[in-house]
Amino acid sequence: MSSIKIIASSLFLAATLLTGCSQTPTKPAAASLYDRLGGKDAITAVVDELAANVGADSRINQRFAKANMKQFKANMVDLLCQGSGGPCKYKGDDMVTVHTGMKIKDDEFGAMAENVVKTLTKFNVPAKEQGEVMAMLGGMKGDIVNR
Ligand code: HEM
Repeated sequence: MSSIKIIASSLFLAATLLTGCSQTPTKPAAASLYDRLGGKDAITAVVDELAANVGADSRINQRFAKANMKQFKANMVDLLCQGSGGPCKYKGDDMVTVHTGMKIKDDEFGAMAENVVKTLTKFNVPAKEQGEVMAMLGGMKGDIVNR
């Protein structure tokens, strides 16, 4: 091999190694809570089960005696989907408007939260994701309780 060729191929090798190694390792983008929950189908299944659990919970089921459960479930899916970074758009009224006049007590909110945890656990949602869902819902408490 001529020395020119050796130099050229050495330079090429060096350049390849350098550019290859100088690239900062790209961290995979963190998956949204929506994706980690399993997307809209998984959220819909959770909300169906939540509604069944709430219906069976004598601490709060009377509250929903006259509720439009089809609308409640559809809105709840959109709320959780949007709130977790999913592509949905919540189209219902804001939480204050929805719950004003109901005078929901702290204990009732706690009962609802228990039902959410029970439901997420049934679907094997890991503790980290459960914590994120509960933080999201906990942030709405002031808009829902004692209104
Ligand atoms: C994290 C807690 C809660 C969230 C995220 C939540 C969310 C919602 C949503 C999205 C709706 C549907 C709004 C619509 O149809 O326009 C709704 C309605 C309703 N919520 Fe809540 N809610 C929560 C807690 C509670 C609690 C603790 C109670 C009572 C114990 C309650 C009682 C109701 C009732 C009775 C309706 C009305 C349903 C109807 O008339 O059709 N909610 N809520």
